[in-house]
Amino acid sequence: MKKDLVPQAFKFKKDLKGISLKALKEHYKLYEGYVRKTVEIRSDIMEVELKEANATYSRVGEAKREETYAVNAMKLHEFYFDELGGNGVPAGKIVSQIESDFGSFDYWRNDFVATGMSARGWAVLAFDLGEKKLRNYGMDSHNLGPVWDSRPILILDVYEHAYFMDYGTNRKAYIEAYLNNLNWEKIDTLWSAYEF
Ligand SMILES: [Fe+2]
Repeated sequence: MKKDLVPQAFKFKKDLKGISLKALKEHYKLYEGYVRKTVEIRSDIMEVELKEANATYSRVGEAKREETYAVNAMKLHEFYFDELGGNGVPAGKIVSQIESDFGSFDYWRNDFVATGMSARGWAVLAFDLGEKKLRNYGMDSHNLGPVWDSRPILILDVYEHAYFMDYGTNRKAYIEAYLNNLNWEKIDTLWSAYEF
């Protein structure tokens, strides 16, 4: 995460297996928009009258509400794009942690796919710092569903914009393509960098 909130560079040069470069480019434009809006909202918060804060309506209240939407959208897309571009072969210590916490890798995979099929926004494999356990969480919006005290490890975007261009309504095929393009070395590096 860059401190000055500049969008991360677009890294894809060609189609992934089952996810087109065109879809990724359009998706990246949405991500850039979330970064821009995060900067804009935070700038607005510096300008509004804080003493007018009100839960029904106030400029600061609306800005704070949309800040979590934009910030989560920005961060989740950065994980999502960063973790794509691999060969999809599970690797690293994260695999044994998944096996330990979910019983088997296949069980985790089935649960993760079901999370992605049933969520309206995101599926997130996260490590719960309190439970000391990995969990698959579904989120219905960028800012609906994140569980505090947990760290995101693996992020799947299931908003229609992520797959309609390539798959229409066939979300399942998109999720399979996503799994086939995961960079598990990167995911394991992220996992290993967290100090639990
Ligand atoms: Fe997205």
